[in-house]
Amino acid sequence: MERKALYAGSFDPVTNGHLNIIERAAALFDSLTVLIAVNANKNNLFDLGERLEIMKEVTGHLSNVTVDTFSGLLADYVNENRFDAYIRGLRGTTDFENELHMAQMNARLFREDTETIFLMTDPKYSFISSSLVKEVAAFGGSIEGLVPECVVSRIRSKSQEE
Ligand code: COA
Repeated sequence: MERKALYAGSFDPVTNGHLNIIERAAALFDSLTVLIAVNANKNNLFDLGERLEIMKEVTGHLSNVTVDTFSGLLADYVNENRFDAYIRGLRGTTDFENELHMAQMNARLFREDTETIFLMTDPKYSFISSSLVKEVAAFGGSIEGLVPECVVSRIRSKSQEE
């Protein structure tokens, strides 16, 4: 039986930390869907279409990964597509409390036996967040090595546009 997993986030932009989680989750499951979801509390630099394009480019080497977008309640997407696992990355204790609450809320809402599974972020990437990357880039700091190469150039051209 095919084991299907989901990894969701706003990915604005996707970082090397996210990519590391994607690669590890893809190795654990038969298929992995990376879902670019809307977090209503965030103002985004890249629109959904741009984030979809970037995510497809950076996951192109992973044959069992597909990318999708969704705006709505995550549990609706999970219930419709019947995933075995919902993957989250944990960078440290600061992520834990928020993740615990989301996992418990989702557990009430997931209809099938979808388990939330946490993968510990590689320590190399534990200090990275999408917001910090955008902030450093906005002030002209180096973001090389924090995000995939194509994201570096896209952020630079966005900053020039603005
Ligand atoms: N490497 C680098 N950064 C990481 C990371 C990793 N391994 N894991 C998490 N992060 C960072 C992200 O870059 C992000 O940084 P930012 O806040 O600066 O943008 C931060 O951690 C939070 O990421 P994440 O936990 O993936 O949150 P998100 O806002 O990107 O996505 C959703 C959260 C979209 C999945 C969630 O809000 C959701 O499910 N929304 C749909 C509505 C819904 O169902 N709500 C009820 C949920 S119970």
